[in-house]
Amino acid sequence: MKVLVTGSSGLIGSMLINALADKFEISALDARRSEHAPDVPTMITDGSDYESMSKAFEGVDAVVHLAANAPVETPWPDVLKNNISTTHNVYEAARQHGVKRVVFASSNHAVGNFEMDEPYCRIRVGDYEGLKPGGFKRVDNSVPIRPDSDYGVSKAFGEATGRYYHEHFGLEVACLRIGTVNPQNSPAGSVRSLATWLSHRDLTQLVSQCLTQPLGFEIFYGVSDNTWRFWDTDYAKKVIGYAPLDNAEDWR
Ligand SMILES: NC(=O)c1ccc[n+]([C@@H]2O[C@H](COP(=O)([O-])OP(=O)(O)OC[C@H]3O[C@@H](n4cnc5c(N)ncnc54)[C@H](O)[C@@H]3O)[C@@H](O)[C@H]2O)c1
Repeated sequence: MKVLVTGSSGLIGSMLINALADKFEISALDARRSEHAPDVPTMITDGSDYESMSKAFEGVDAVVHLAANAPVETPWPDVLKNNISTTHNVYEAARQHGVKRVVFASSNHAVGNFEMDEPYCRIRVGDYEGLKPGGFKRVDNSVPIRPDSDYGVSKAFGEATGRYYHEHFGLEVACLRIGTVNPQNSPAGSVRSLATWLSHRDLTQLVSQCLTQPLGFEIFYGVSDNTWRFWDTDYAKKVIGYAPLDNAEDWR
């Protein structure tokens, strides 16, 4: 299977390409070069420039779309160009070139305002008093969109556009509401990440399942098997056989 990875010079892109290179024939696209970028055929171009970026989609079976500004504080002009326009271009280029499937890096920030509510607002700061792990309803893929930022809005846009391209053009789409992925590959750094951490190997497995299992349009949460996670993973386990191996609690 020929897989194009956008955002290949970034943290997740370079990690994923190295981890998946044995399983898929990978090509890449990013706006910038990086000395850490994996050694695969790479087009350096701006994803918001349709004419140029769409050439990378020729002969491709599936796209893992990661290119975006990742910080939640990203200002609107950058969100518009790098997250919204680029993501629309990815779906349109996939359609134009007969690509079957897009795995879209959405984000927990598409539903981030659930963290203002009980019990999530307490779990995110480590106040577990009176709570049992999983003894509360986890945020799942049926909840309404509740973005917490322009960045979160851009991820909701990517999910909505994915659904549109699925229902109108038959594109297969998996949107991953990714939690916390970091270079140290541990939940170190914040109490919240004891709930939200996604390890590199769990992310790799999740993306691999999204590329190989039967799929229509789906939204999955990208989070490890953390004891205090407040996002649902049962659905991904059931639909695509996601089998996370890591638990942030082992690092506490
Ligand atoms: N790291 C996390 O915890 C996390 C959590 C949720 C979602 N995500 C999403 O996962 C994806 C990858 O995140 P990351 O942590 O690897 O970020 P990153 O910043 O390390 O990598 C993003 C890459 O996208 C590229 N890019 C940005 N705009 C582009 C454009 N217009 N055209 C081409 N390339 C462009 C950048 O050059 C960069 O190499 C992003 O979409 C991010 O929003 C990440």
